[in-house]
Amino acid sequence: MGTLKRFLLVVVATLGSIAMAADGVPRITDREIADVSNTADWLAYGRNHNEQRFSPLTDIDTKSVSDLGVSWYLDLPNDVGLVATPLVLDGVLYFTGTMNVVRAVDATSGELLWEYDPRVADEIRGRKQAGMVHNRGLAIYGDKLFAATWDGRLLALSLDQGELIWSTRTFDLGEPLYITGAPKAFKGKVLIGNGGTENGAARGFVSAYDAETGDLAWRFHIVPGNPADGFENAAMEMAAETWTGKWWEQGGGGNAWHGFTYDEELDAIYIGTGNGSPWNQKMRSPGGGDNLFLCSIVALDPDTGEYLWHYQTTPGETWDYNSNMDIVLADLEIDGETVKALLHAPKNGFFYVIDRTDGRLISADAFADVNWATHVDLETGRPVEREGARYEDGREVITPSPLGAHSWHAMSYNPGTGLVYLPTLHLSTDFDDTTFEEETYKPAPFELNTAVGFLMGPQPRDYQGELQAWDPVEKRQVWSVPQAEPWGSGTLTTAGNLVFQGETSGWFKAYDAKTGDELWSFDTGLGISAPPITYRIDGVQYVAVLVGFGGAYAARMGEGPEAHGWAYGVHKRRLIAFALGAESEVPTQPPPYFPEPIVEADFEVDEELALEGEELYLVKMCIGCHGGEAIAGGMAPDLRASAMTLSETEPVFRSIVRDGARVSRAMPAFPDLTDRQLEALRQYIRRQAHAAAMGD
Ligand code: HEC
Repeated sequence: MGTLKRFLLVVVATLGSIAMAADGVPRITDREIADVSNTADWLAYGRNHNEQRFSPLTDIDTKSVSDLGVSWYLDLPNDVGLVATPLVLDGVLYFTGTMNVVRAVDATSGELLWEYDPRVADEIRGRKQAGMVHNRGLAIYGDKLFAATWDGRLLALSLDQGELIWSTRTFDLGEPLYITGAPKAFKGKVLIGNGGTENGAARGFVSAYDAETGDLAWRFHIVPGNPADGFENAAMEMAAETWTGKWWEQGGGGNAWHGFTYDEELDAIYIGTGNGSPWNQKMRSPGGGDNLFLCSIVALDPDTGEYLWHYQTTPGETWDYNSNMDIVLADLEIDGETVKALLHAPKNGFFYVIDRTDGRLISADAFADVNWATHVDLETGRPVEREGARYEDGREVITPSPLGAHSWHAMSYNPGTGLVYLPTLHLSTDFDDTTFEEETYKPAPFELNTAVGFLMGPQPRDYQGELQAWDPVEKRQVWSVPQAEPWGSGTLTTAGNLVFQGETSGWFKAYDAKTGDELWSFDTGLGISAPPITYRIDGVQYVAVLVGFGGAYAARMGEGPEAHGWAYGVHKRRLIAFALGAESEVPTQPPPYFPEPIVEADFEVDEELALEGEELYLVKMCIGCHGGEAIAGGMAPDLRASAMTLSETEPVFRSIVRDGARVSRAMPAFPDLTDRQLEALRQYIRRQAHAAAMGD
């Protein structure tokens, strides 16, 4: 290469946002991921290292947004729940779908460039597998793309071809853990945690791997293990002081399945940590205690994984109030001073503003109905709990619910308006631990380990969802869009003074970021659970979103999501990109479909077995995909309408459920179910089918 050409390349690389190697392949470093001025790409889960999901693009603004139309779409016929944030680099859009299939498409046309299938079914075939099959996204660093799989692998793929470069196991197969999260890449490392707090005696941890080689760089445990084995570090020793009883036999929990933010300015990685394993603190740490580092933000040294500081949002948690929600970095003007703040809205219903130089609490205010605590004391930094909130007497209705007042659906922050756009849930739960005994409680792997019953409580409001704009300096709601249903998608905000959000209703909407006025809407015909992104290529600003109702609400909640008629496999999952003046037609979705429960002639339900099956359906987590009361929301077939549950197909039922005949379609095996248990499950499903047909 001539000297002049090389010189020009260097100049272009310096002036442009993306560093290029001599071979023309982009090389992404922290500088590029942190660069908020780059509008061509979307390089990380929250767009930039600051996780703000704010784009400086202004082509689409409050005036022009009414001209937004479909530019292109890509149908994804084999996918089910879609919850991922796509990434965009150099005109290519990357995303993860069901069973962790990674795809690269032309970001201006949707043309499929490559597809990588990590063959999850081959890993879990014949084994038990905890958790859910959906996935929230990818990471880019150097010249590689990183993905993590349901079964616990972390993968590095080539950006241009989608070829596997390395793969490493982040936990042993056979552990009741799973990954739904996006890896976080920073400083030549890739970090991942896992879910599984409810699926056994879980002890949460995060691991950072070398981005080039896949070698383990460091691991940080979130809760202490058995003191007799020695502590991994001083932080674990400190944390152990806040636990009682034989917590290590219960696991402790804290699993970090989401919520990782790298602070490029202060050179720290922040981990949002999970709830207790089991949920019920009476069984986990019977003498009380804060139980560090549950439900906290823990700041770690990105090079070594050493503990720097922590802030705990829910000391001694007992309601599944994890702090795995996104962590957004922003410089705020508070009382005339610029504060390097961290913004966090965990499940517990309080909005936290924290000084990220040292973890000091600045403010914490309720952003939803909260009845477990009256307020957070700014002197002590601790919540002031209401008497009875810990279901001391065995039973209590608590708001928010374990789904949280805010879950993993990302909030966005607009430095122009100074507002946070926060998808909010208004639900309450009736906790009941009267059937659990402290002396006898033992966690069982691959089963539901909450040690407390939880049923829907009376609802706190006449709507269950809300999009709200929250002012983190004034500590108040600025505008609100009530939504009948919960589980609205994460948000995107732009310098065009806009906020975009997808709804459970299937509508994709744009709002005025200052007022909350609805300015544009598009009916996708299927619930949206994934957050939108934006990018600009060849002078065109695109807004792209994955449409594919998914996540815990869609999978578990039964009746609510079922009412839409988005039965399993009927409605098209797709990726849709919008642009100004674009007029492509998206084929309309089929009408709502309600699978008809099958009534078996001459079938007498064995009530005793059916009752046993009802318990198994919950404990073995069939409910996690097939829905509450065997009413499916669309993430899996409605078993009441399944011909595979009839007496004549009993051998097929057995081969599907026990042997995993459908594992390639995300139906895991349950190899240790006995014949009696299988029959009990079948009897329960039949009972539910008959009850539905009778109109109960
Ligand atoms: C991780 C999610 C998940 C869990 C947990 C799960 N299933 Fe499934 N199940 C599925 C999916 C997805 C399918 C559809 C597979 C396909 O398309 O063939 C399915 C299919 C089935 C079928 C076949 C239905 C038909 O008509 O084709 C039966 C029966 C079934 N599951 C029973 C169960 C039982 C019983 C449990 C609990 C012991 C359970 N499943 C747990 C996801 C799950």
